[in-house]
Order: sequence, then C-alpha cells, then structure tokens
Amino acid sequence: MMWSQQLKERRKHAEHLVEKGLGRVRFVLGRGTLARLERVAPELAGGLREALRSRYAPDERAVVRRIEALRGRLMGDVTPLALVDFGAGKPDAALSAEQMATGTQRTRTVAEMTGASKSPFWAGVLFRLVRTFRPAKALELGTCLGLSAAYQASAQTFNGGGGQVVTLEGAPALASIARTHLAELGIANVEIVLGRFADTLPEVLARGPYGYVFIDGHHDEAATLAYFDQVRPFMTPDGIIVFDDIDYSAGMGRAWKALAVHPAVAVAVDLGRLGVVRLGVREGREAAAHPREGRDPREGRDPREGREAAAHAGAGEVFRMRVR
Ligand SMILES: C[S@@+](CC[C@H](N)C(=O)[O-])C[C@H]1O[C@@H](n2cnc3c(N)ncnc32)[C@H](O)[C@@H]1O
Repeated sequence: MMWSQQLKERRKHAEHLVEKGLGRVRFVLGRGTLARLERVAPELAGGLREALRSRYAPDERAVVRRIEALRGRLMGDVTPLALVDFGAGKPDAALSAEQMATGTQRTRTVAEMTGASKSPFWAGVLFRLVRTFRPAKALELGTCLGLSAAYQASAQTFNGGGGQVVTLEGAPALASIARTHLAELGIANVEIVLGRFADTLPEVLARGPYGYVFIDGHHDEAATLAYFDQVRPFMTPDGIIVFDDIDYSAGMGRAWKALAVHPAVAVAVDLGRLGVVRLGVREGREAAAHPREGRDPREGRDPREGREAAAHAGAGEVFRMRVR
C-alpha cells in the first residue's frame, strides 16, 4: 500500500475510534477474566471495562478530536529532528547501561516519532484509566510529542479538582515540540521536565505522592524494574502504574513477569501491549497475613470471609486480556 494511502487509512481508523468510541474493540479471552477481576478488584475491572468499551461523552470527544487532528497533521510531517535518545533502542539493540546513560544521537522525522506515540486506541485507554482513578497527581515517563500527555491531562481536567500531569523527556527537541503542541491544544495542566529520567526523577518524585504513573520510555528490563522500585515509595498506597510495551522485547517480557507478581502489587492486568498494576496487598496475601484465629466469636461471621473466598479465586493471578 502506498504511504499516502496508509496515512489515509490510519487517519480514518483514528476518526472511527474517536467518533464511535473504543467500543468496537472486543476482548479476546476477556469475559471470564474480567468477571474474576471484578471479584478481586472491582474498581480496576470497572475502569478497564469502561476503558475498553466506552464511548467518549460529547465534551470529551470534542477534546479528543482536537488531539487527533494534531496527530493527523504530525503523521504527514517529514521534518527531521536531531534527537538524543536515552532509551533502549530497538528490541534487539542490547545496549549497555552506559550506552543508554550517555544517549545515542539519532535523526527521526516528526512522522516517525508520531508512530512511536500511543495510538488513538491505547491513548484512549489511558484517558479512561485517569478518568476512573482520578489521581490528584499523575506522572509520565516519556513525553515524545506530547500526545499521550494531552490525553491524560485532558482526563485530569474532566475529573475536576485541578489534577496535573508531570511528564519527563530526555530529548530537548521533543520536549520543546511537545510544549508547543500542548499550548496549541490549550492544555495547561502539564509540566514537561527535561532531562534523563535518572536525573529528573528524584526531584519530581519528591513532589508526590502520585496516584498514577505511566512508564513509556527506556524499555529495558533492568531500567524498568529499577523505575518501579524508585517510584513506588512516592505513590499513594493503592496507586496505579501502567507499563507500556511489555511485549517489546524478551527483557521487557521478563520485567513484566517479575513486576506482575511483586509483593507490592495487589492486582496485575496484562493487556498485551500495556501492563497495568494496582499497588497494595494482594487479597489472598492479606487474608494470610490476618488469620482469623483469635477473633472473638461474639463478633459473628467475619465480613471478610465472603470476600476472601471470592478473592482466593484470583489471588496471585495475572489477569490476561487481549483486545482486537
Ligand atoms: C515511546 S516515546 C513516548 C511516547 C509518548 N508517551 C506518547 O505516547 O505520546 C518514549 C520517549 O521517552 C524518551 N526517553 C526514553 N528513555 C529516556 C530516558 N532514560 N530519559 C529521558 N527520556 C527518555 C524518549 O526520548 C522518547 O521521546
């Protein structure tokens, strides 16, 4: 297919998602998993159900249309950008920690970087997660052109309450373009912090706690595990972390496997491209940590019992859902 034809098709698909919602997407392996998730983490299940099926309300759609009009323009923009990349590079690049810390100089067009941004579908999922969990403070690692930041910040605005998004970017050219894009969209509740994550995170985290973190940059196994450890102490006890590209490379797959069963993770949902975790004590573990012996029998039936029985069904499970 010719490039212009591809561009046209992709724009049409984006338009369809905006107008009709994400609702045409169907879960594969979804129904039973969602029902089990519902018992273990009703809020997260509800949020994902909404995220994956709902339509935008008219006022939301108007905002999303503006973001998608911008994306449409960027998709056809072949202006070259001189970038420094502190990420992991291609899935098979096997860069050393030192190489990533030094950064690699690359030239990429605006259109290519648009392709590296979250698609209208996944950006819509992020939008819905922020709408559902209403974090007072949200953090993103990896701004790029500002498209996912625009979605998440708009969700914060719809939530009311003055919620902000802080987003981190290592490439000055991208941070600067993203700033222009957000201004053009009239989105004022985003702060772009320029620098390597390793350098900027400590100061940004100290301004927490964050109820929601989206990690969409530096897709390296060790780095991803390290960011998880680094951000966790600065999150609300039941905060949400979304990991992008858990299927990017073998290393990212291993990182996700470890994170999903980490003791600090209450619930883990694998959406194929994205991994979503809610922090906290996993229900089954909580039950084990609070044995019922010693409970005063006059208290009657422990209200936790029903919950526990249901929760045991999903304790330790990584909920896998596929969408198409
Ligand atoms: C996939 S893009 C982000 C896309 C964006 N979230 C979106 O969907 O619109 C990842 C971004 O993270 C930045 N990045 C990667 N590793 C980084 C690091 N270690 N420090 C700072 N920025 C980094 C890259 O420059 C790139 O712009």
